[in-house]
Amino acid sequence: MTRSSSVGRARACANIALAKYWGKCDEALNLPAVPSVSITLDALVTETTVTVDPSLHRDVFVLDGTERYGTDALRATELLDRVRTLAGVPFRARIETRNHFPTASGLASSASGFAALACAASRAYGLSLHGSVLSALARRASASAARSVFGGFVELPAGVKGEDTLAARPLAPPEHWDVAMVIALVSTAQKKIPSRNGMLETARSSPYYSSWLSVAPRYAHEIREGILARDLERVGTAMEASTFAMHASAWAARPSVRYISSATLTLLDAVEQLRSRGIAAYATMDAGPHVKVLCTTHDAAIVQQTLQATGAATNVTIARPGPGVTELP
Ligand code: PMV
Repeated sequence: MTRSSSVGRARACANIALAKYWGKCDEALNLPAVPSVSITLDALVTETTVTVDPSLHRDVFVLDGTERYGTDALRATELLDRVRTLAGVPFRARIETRNHFPTASGLASSASGFAALACAASRAYGLSLHGSVLSALARRASASAARSVFGGFVELPAGVKGEDTLAARPLAPPEHWDVAMVIALVSTAQKKIPSRNGMLETARSSPYYSSWLSVAPRYAHEIREGILARDLERVGTAMEASTFAMHASAWAARPSVRYISSATLTLLDAVEQLRSRGIAAYATMDAGPHVKVLCTTHDAAIVQQTLQATGAATNVTIARPGPGVTELP
């Protein structure tokens, strides 16, 4: 279905993987080698406007008020190229995207960014793409973005080489389970290794990459079942196992791909201490040093205070399961 429009606007929330995706089975089609499971989070929002402009000779990508030319701009143009092919419209576009994240977070925004872009671009080019088609489009830019198309608890199966239709699917809506993710941001002077490069290095040179590939589906299954049963201990312990297996495989690459810092370890100690006090809190990290802690909504404030008290975090925010991508008027 098409409709005539040259401006599209969308809002998407970032997601945090409980069962991690790390490694690709098809580099060209950006297909993940392992299944992943995530929570889409209400506190981490990206808003994007795409304006098709026949007078432009190239796409213009403006992120948080500044024009960008790097990898993200290139991936945005590649996504627009796919939309242009589907729509049969050749014109270039101006992309304006804003992250409403905790200030200077350094959190990976590619998930919300590419989910919002896929939705806004398809609208701007007169297409009406929804659900799994939109998710597959976002996945080509960033596999985690496929999950942000849906709200609440979401799974992305492993890919099959050559099959470009892979999409995420919703597991349970946001209101299914009363949990929170407490996000402790760690200041970082060092530029992180982009996840794409980190995965490539891990697959190429880590002696533990094959072990990661063999355990990851088991953790994803456990987390999926734990979410459906609302079993925090089951989800939390499997999430930590998935996190540490992913980071250990990356750390063992040559050269080493290390995302955690001493501040990360301080925060992990605090999470263990919370558990020793009987508070069910479990930690996860992605391609950066920040620590995200899964707990009940009831315990979120005490978890936040405890993480803040370590002095290792610059900002600690409470996020809750949030909605999938939405079009804006
Ligand atoms: O989709 P990407 O390229 O942003 O990679 C995401 C990788 C992790 O955040 C570490 C794990 C995940 O599943 O989100």
